[in-house]
Amino acid sequence: MNALPTLGELPAAVRRLLVRVDFNVPLKGGQVADDFRIRAAAPTVQTLLERQVGVTLISHLGRPGGRPNLSLSLEPLADVVARQVGCPVSFVPGVPGDSAYQQAVRSDPTVVLLAENLRFDPGEEANDPAFAARLASGHDGFVQDAFGTLHRSHASTVAVTKTLPSWAGPLVAAEVAALDALLSDPRRPFGLVVGGAKMKDKLPLLRRLLPEVDTVLIGGALASTFLAASGLAVGASLYEPGELDSARLLLDAWPDVIHLPDSVVVERAGGVEEVSAAEVLSDARIMDVGRRTLNAWRPMVAGLGRLFWNGPIGFYERPPFDQGTAQLARFVGEMTGMSVVGGGDSLAAVRRLGLEASISHLSTGGGAALAYLEGDVLPGLMALEER
Ligand code: 3PG
Repeated sequence: MNALPTLGELPAAVRRLLVRVDFNVPLKGGQVADDFRIRAAAPTVQTLLERQVGVTLISHLGRPGGRPNLSLSLEPLADVVARQVGCPVSFVPGVPGDSAYQQAVRSDPTVVLLAENLRFDPGEEANDPAFAARLASGHDGFVQDAFGTLHRSHASTVAVTKTLPSWAGPLVAAEVAALDALLSDPRRPFGLVVGGAKMKDKLPLLRRLLPEVDTVLIGGALASTFLAASGLAVGASLYEPGELDSARLLLDAWPDVIHLPDSVVVERAGGVEEVSAAEVLSDARIMDVGRRTLNAWRPMVAGLGRLFWNGPIGFYERPPFDQGTAQLARFVGEMTGMSVVGGGDSLAAVRRLGLEASISHLSTGGGAALAYLEGDVLPGLMALEER
């Protein structure tokens, strides 16, 4: 692997930079509902402004499918970005690369611009060199600081690096360093906590890391699939019957490494109760891990030398079924070993409890972090390395 070019190598002559950020943030009622990714990117912009460099921020938001869709406009983000960065931010409506964009880029060399959603143009997802050239026009260089999108082969992750001299931003450099450290650190035991709903999102990670880790704790709807695969009745729980064989193979191969919840919180007949995982009735639906499980998991987490956690271990968005995830966040916050947390709900739990400073690394890239740990080559990272 080549070394990543970083901002330390930025030539003094650079005047305006195109900066790819991951502002794919949740919106509610047209307003930014969670500004974590914007806050994370702000220091990068500030560093560039201190160097008297003009900045054009580009990002996608959601999946508009190559057409303008004003419900996915980046306009509501402009004020939030301005507050976080501490200077005015001028939003450019339309489609990135169009004539309004070209005019804005050329009008004032020092202003911070926020371009409209990249995915309003079909060229973005098609990795179209012509679209990349329109984005690049008027800039002397490109900074890639959107780690969360590096697993996509898009114009703003790949084609643009063929058009402009390119550097990795601090967020990308920090993510890569943290994930590399997680994989290479000698501290043991090495643990994984995986939650969430879909086996297809987590199976590659489990297959790749099971031979290397000492402990895997499984929660969320994923745990129901594993419980069913181990022969237990899961009643009316959400699980994936089509994935039972995959789960069974892993349980058979790694019986001492994989830990499933032995008590669960179920919803049944309008009530909520904690039961043994072996006693889930046919009309009960598993919604969270139980207290007995958490009591067993706490010392396991505390004793880990390294941990990667991705995915909520209960139905986090429906209190009181957020309690397992919240407790787990507290256990991870108490760890003295290295802790890396990624994924929207896991991060939300950490932040809601104010535990950010107790976690070694909060990953801004969900799918990209998983892909990196699975050993995939990330096209956006490769493009930077091949600059
Ligand atoms: C993310 O939120 O994981 C990134 O912004 C990538 O978004 P995407 O899955 O729509 O490409």
